[in-house]
Amino acid sequence: MRVLFVASECVPLVKTGGLADVAGALPKALTSRGVDVRVLLPGYPGVTAPSAEGEAVWREADVFGQPATVRRAPVGGLDVLALDMPAYFERDGLYVTPEGEDWPDNPFRFAALSWVAAGIARDGLADGWRPDIVHAHDWQTGLAPLYLQDWGVRDVASILTIHNMSYQGVCEAELRRDLKLPETGFTAQGYEFYGKVNFLKAGLIHSDLVTTVSPTYARELESPEFGWGLEGVLAARQERAIGILNGIDTELWDPMSDPAVPSFTSRSLSGRKAARKALLQTFSLDAGRTGPLFGVVSRLTDQKGLDLLLGILPDMLRVDGSLVLLGSGDRRLEQAFLTAARDHAGSVGVRIGYDEDLAHRIYAGSDAVLVPSRFEPCGLTQMYAMRYGALPVVARTGGLADTVIDANSAAVSAGVATGFQFDPGSREAFANAIAKVFAVFSERSLWRQMQRNAMRHPVGWDGPAERYIDLYARLMAAKEGKKR
Ligand code: ADP
Ligand code: GLC
Repeated sequence: MRVLFVASECVPLVKTGGLADVAGALPKALTSRGVDVRVLLPGYPGVTAPSAEGEAVWREADVFGQPATVRRAPVGGLDVLALDMPAYFERDGLYVTPEGEDWPDNPFRFAALSWVAAGIARDGLADGWRPDIVHAHDWQTGLAPLYLQDWGVRDVASILTIHNMSYQGVCEAELRRDLKLPETGFTAQGYEFYGKVNFLKAGLIHSDLVTTVSPTYARELESPEFGWGLEGVLAARQERAIGILNGIDTELWDPMSDPAVPSFTSRSLSGRKAARKALLQTFSLDAGRTGPLFGVVSRLTDQKGLDLLLGILPDMLRVDGSLVLLGSGDRRLEQAFLTAARDHAGSVGVRIGYDEDLAHRIYAGSDAVLVPSRFEPCGLTQMYAMRYGALPVVARTGGLADTVIDANSAAVSAGVATGFQFDPGSREAFANAIAKVFAVFSERSLWRQMQRNAMRHPVGWDGPAERYIDLYARLMAAKEGKKR
């Protein structure tokens, strides 16, 4: 079974969010189960540098005006195919300029990625490898299934995973000819969307199977609130989106062997104390406060609901809570949190930017990790928190609802609670959940039991990887059937 993964970011090479974690970890889990996976990535500087010596395995002289070369190299346990197109990818910033604006040529950059994925599926590589399946991820790769179908490549199946329906890759209709999209597809039943071109819609329509990253999000996607105008497209498919919960890489995220948190040395919770102390020191916070230390590691966007946190912060601090936040994104949110840190020096620490090492230390040293998202397809931060013994406080939506067992009275009496849930988008519900966190925090034995539950909660890729393999097998059987 040969699978071509195609994604716009991937750990350990380039990352802006959870897509990169999944695009790095799932291929590893599949490979260890005997699937032959290669991962096609745009040749950003972080990808071309480690693959520069790789063998050129595919070329095309002119892909949207640029020569394209694919180099194969083993990097970080992955079989990487780096798409070398310097004019498109050799720049800092994956999707946006240093000022935070989308790169104007994004439609061409990601159409090129999709085009090359389809090209590899059609031609095979110079070393004779040709995939049975193209596994595309999010809008950046949404055109790959369309090109495959348009070119009549029928012996390679395609599967599209939706990591976030709110990003769709919409561009002006005039570009469709330059993007080499079939004119006949520019209709409401095709890739047209309110008079524009929609990359994700193209993928949803033309892929053989659609999956998303949690069972709850798979259901939510069918409603206008979460479908962002594409809910009808999913509903019209013969088979709707299949929800498969993400896992996390339990080797990269193992508190017992994590170089970022040397204090964790045994399965007991004793290493946390030192990690907490170190974290307080990093942010120059007062060690004498008696309430929980809350942590946040997040993109700062409307999705993540962190404006709600700003609203309840003064109350949290009044009862001796503290907060550390690491994030970047929306300039207004960045400013608001920096102001909060200035106003509450000693109890609020804020770092604007991206820092992988600090993220690990926040999961390890916080008592509770806050994820108040308005919607969350899966969410990985709550799983990292659990694995490091920080209790997640999450909005009951998408994958957050599927991964955290709320400390309601039934779960507490059964001894299975792993965190706290509340109704998404409500400041009052969030405040009530925080009040509950304080109450449980003062009941030390219950808190410790929840930490142990959280740390033991299964979060690896074993189950999910098997489910993807089942789907791949189904797709291959269907293709075989059609050939006969
Ligand atoms: P999303 O993909 O929507 O951003 P996820 O919870 O799936 O949300 O994944 C977020 C990933 O990005 C996690 O691995 C988290 O630790 C990481 N992350 C987010 N912001 C930062 C940051 N500022 N610095 C370091 N890591 C971050
Ligand atoms: C997206 C989603 C997030 C999910 C991640 C990985 O970025 O916002 O919820 O965990 O993809 O699938």
